[in-house]
Amino acid sequence: GAPVVADISKVESGQMVRYGWRSVPVFVVNRTKEQVATLTTKDVESRLKDPNCDVTSQQPAYAKNPHRSIKPEWLVMIGICTHLGCVPDYKPKVGPEPFDPDWKSGFYCPCHKSRYDIAGRVYDGVPAPLNMVIPPYHFMDDTHIQIG
Ligand code: FES
Repeated sequence: GAPVVADISKVESGQMVRYGWRSVPVFVVNRTKEQVATLTTKDVESRLKDPNCDVTSQQPAYAKNPHRSIKPEWLVMIGICTHLGCVPDYKPKVGPEPFDPDWKSGFYCPCHKSRYDIAGRVYDGVPAPLNMVIPPYHFMDDTHIQIG
């Protein structure tokens, strides 16, 4: 499939937009400073299955970091749950949620209740086995991301 260009000039802080690429949904999130800060707190890291992104199939090498991205505020991720392929919901609010008092914002899969942090790293104790996939992408300039 052809690459897709995301114009991010109007994506507000905390907002998520969806793009279609190779018939999969790609989530682009302009993370707030508060959301980014949750990615390096010990109480979140200790609850993740793969906090250091050691499973190399799930992201390019340049996204093997706590924010799983090139720029800390911009998340570019294939929005497909690694359990059975549902599309998770974006949960922008930084905790607490009724189903998890320690929730720090991220993605929630309604099919079988898998939870991910705001970098798509999967929580322990849920059916999804892996972090969500980060596709290949790069910044063409400050306001355009090429996906694929
Ligand atoms: Fe997401 Fe099962 S498909 S938890």
